[in-house]
Amino acid sequence: MEPTWALEIKKDLRTKFIGHEIICYNRIKSTNDKAKELVETGAKEGVVIIAKEQIHGRGRLHGGQPRKWFSPTGGIYISIILKPAIAPHQAPKLALVSAIALTNFLRIKYHLKAGVKWPNDVLVNNKKICGVLTEGSTKSGRLEYVIVGLGINANVDIEDLPKEIRETGTSIKKELGTEISLTEFLQHFLEEFESFYIEFKENDLSPLLNTYNSLLDTPGQWIRITTAHESFEGIAQGVDPDGGLILKLADNSIRRIISGEVVDSKRI
Ligand code: BTN
Repeated sequence: MEPTWALEIKKDLRTKFIGHEIICYNRIKSTNDKAKELVETGAKEGVVIIAKEQIHGRGRLHGGQPRKWFSPTGGIYISIILKPAIAPHQAPKLALVSAIALTNFLRIKYHLKAGVKWPNDVLVNNKKICGVLTEGSTKSGRLEYVIVGLGINANVDIEDLPKEIRETGTSIKKELGTEISLTEFLQHFLEEFESFYIEFKENDLSPLLNTYNSLLDTPGQWIRITTAHESFEGIAQGVDPDGGLILKLADNSIRRIISGEVVDSKRI
């Protein structure tokens, strides 16, 4: 554990409840696994787990298997414990809320041209800079908790990533040409995250939709998207209040995609 770093982050943190308890590690298997362990033994909403390096960072599922999230030093690996009073099927919306918070934050704080690749990848110059993994648990049909895991390529040197993702990934350091303060990032990001989360808890996704759609990387663009069983091509129209992506297909019919991955896109 790294209690000094946790104290440093908390010192200038101006949030209502997110991060009032922060547990930092130099190196951990996965912050999401740790968060799960803590929430199962009673950790409250708002507890934050942060690591400087992960040995088994997990990404989103791909073909039923979790992708590996490469987590070298220089990155920020963070999991936030949330207990919103929402139905289990609403939980995936939190991934969108997190992507909005991250993208908006990168734009405002670092003036990066960040965009969201639906549903929740954060890109700069068409390269992935942050990833979001939400994992929840339900009991007797009720949502018990959601863990929002965020992997941020903050001061990551691209050479420290495996060859196969060097072309498709980037970092804040690479884009700015200079390192950033990880402590300052965390303090300000947690504030930004909290304000979007409170808005979501009070009013659902609707008030955030305009922001989400304005940050979307692909509106009006041709995209190819694959779901578990199918593949579609069409013009992305934006996201609806339930977080589904609206796609206009070549025959002008409208398709709503609830889960899938944008595998290709181009301006037309
Ligand atoms: C993705 O794009 O596939 C999501 C990547 C999420 C990675 C983060 S890093 C912190 C947290 N702990 C994990 O093991 N995964 C998430």
